[in-house]
Amino acid sequence: MTHSDPFTHPMDNIEVRPLRFDYTKIEMQDPVWSRSNPLFSIYINALGIHVPYFERFLVMAFRAVRDNIDNEILRKDVTSIIGQEAHHGRNFIEFNKFLMQRYPEVEALDQRAKTYFETRLQKDSQKQKIGYIAGYETFTYLGGMIILEGYDKWMKEADPVTRSLWLWHQVEEVEHGAVAFDVYQYFYAGNEWYRKWMIVKSLSHIAYETWLAYFPMCKKEGYFSSPFKAAKAIGFYVNFSYQLAKNALPVFSKKYHPRTHQEHSFKQNEIAVGWRKAYSKGEDLRDLNNHAVEKLS
Ligand SMILES: [Fe+2]
Ligand SMILES: [Fe+2]
Repeated sequence: MTHSDPFTHPMDNIEVRPLRFDYTKIEMQDPVWSRSNPLFSIYINALGIHVPYFERFLVMAFRAVRDNIDNEILRKDVTSIIGQEAHHGRNFIEFNKFLMQRYPEVEALDQRAKTYFETRLQKDSQKQKIGYIAGYETFTYLGGMIILEGYDKWMKEADPVTRSLWLWHQVEEVEHGAVAFDVYQYFYAGNEWYRKWMIVKSLSHIAYETWLAYFPMCKKEGYFSSPFKAAKAIGFYVNFSYQLAKNALPVFSKKYHPRTHQEHSFKQNEIAVGWRKAYSKGEDLRDLNNHAVEKLS
């Protein structure tokens, strides 16, 4: 396994791809963008609101420590994750503005996330920042795997632009899924309990922030108009959050490394491989219709 072969392992060859998505092209301007599973699109929209502010937090925290890393490969990977997350942040902050048109509550949640991460950037110690980022990135990577492997279930029939946004994001989250872990190990190897505590803390934060947005969004979309629909919406939230937590269990092992995560080790996702190859050939991946996605896998 080397960094020179781009497709040997899903985490090889981290590439910064400066895509910008045009949300004015979203079909009917409807934020419930997955017809395969509308609740999935509401959940992932809700989860995504605070994410760009975490991504900015990561960019600033990693820029501050990059020059203290005396390992050329890791330093290069840190530069790559900074580049990827900076572009994610830009696109997701714009997506929040799109969501605000339908859900006015998003404006306050967006501001809340911005304030939270800016405060933490100022007040937290380096260990707190690196630990939190390693914990949080566990779930962006696992979420990436869950979404890519369940592609048909989640978004086989979906709006092309929003689906493309999430494909891009999840492919890249998997690609750089080991970097934050490696940075934590570089500085704090041996602090295993702190690493584990940060996993619990970050998942709690993700789940709570998602709920704060998921509830008003489901309400707006009429899910609380009947007990049956409400149970379905709450059930989806509980089940997806549980999937994230369950997939994180191996992360608590002392021997864990993202590259050898037991369920995903060396397993290549066909869509992700096809996506990366298509990008390297210069194809436009910002507006993928069903046919274009089929061609990827
Ligand atoms: Fe990201
Ligand atoms: Fe990430």
